[in-house]
Amino acid sequence: MRILFVGDVVGRAGRAAIELYLPKLREELALDAVVVNGENAAGGYGLTAKIANQFFELGADLITLGNHAWDQRELIGHIATEPRIVRPLNMAPGAPGQGIGEVRTAAGGRLVVIQVLGRLFMGLADDPVRAIEAELERLELGKDVQAILIDVHAEATSEKLAHGHLFDGRVSAVVGTHTHVPTADARLLAGGTAFMTDVGMTGDYDSVIGMDKHASIDRWRSPLPGRKMEPAQGEATFCAVLIETDERSGLAVRIEPVRLGGAMPAAMPAIR
Ligand code: FE2
Repeated sequence: MRILFVGDVVGRAGRAAIELYLPKLREELALDAVVVNGENAAGGYGLTAKIANQFFELGADLITLGNHAWDQRELIGHIATEPRIVRPLNMAPGAPGQGIGEVRTAAGGRLVVIQVLGRLFMGLADDPVRAIEAELERLELGKDVQAILIDVHAEATSEKLAHGHLFDGRVSAVVGTHTHVPTADARLLAGGTAFMTDVGMTGDYDSVIGMDKHASIDRWRSPLPGRKMEPAQGEATFCAVLIETDERSGLAVRIEPVRLGGAMPAAMPAIR
């Protein structure tokens, strides 16, 4: 199965990059499934139903969220009606929506996507490991489902890598989101799970993690409350990772970064 996971889409610039690149990539890379992290897509804060539907029309199968899940309050009601939007699994009980989603590919394969929130330098969340373990008890890779992807939405590289090793061999991929900076460590772990500490953002990199750099610098320097943070509006880099899995085992055979446009160096997997 060929899965494209697109890193945190930030604001209008990020959405424009989705529009420009996603439909083309879906075809060129013969993708079976596309997952997009959309928690910063609406003005840098949260996701709206309208933007989610645009992403689905442009080729996304599932959208994951994160710590900004409820910044646009309309999503609190909408998520209950939309199984294609996945919020962190380890939110406190009673959170609306679902922490797990599923894609049925055109070939009939099942991809299960789980998102968890990290606990280091993050808001309150339940134990992500225990939450994932409970789901994996009823999902055997290569038997019940053809692929399992975990999006670890977390600040600390150590926490994300620990999740990679912990679930190595039991899921197809563990990928990190939230820091908005792509790491250079996309690789297969010893047990056959694809891993990347952070996929990076789909947004304008001439910024401070997607937000206007001047407003952000002011925040670090000024003794007064800063002005409102707005997403940077320059050309975005489309930042994603391609994961290919073995149909029988469900483990990964390939993971490669995709970076197109904007200020970041380009990367594109060989088409084969
Ligand atoms: Fe986040």
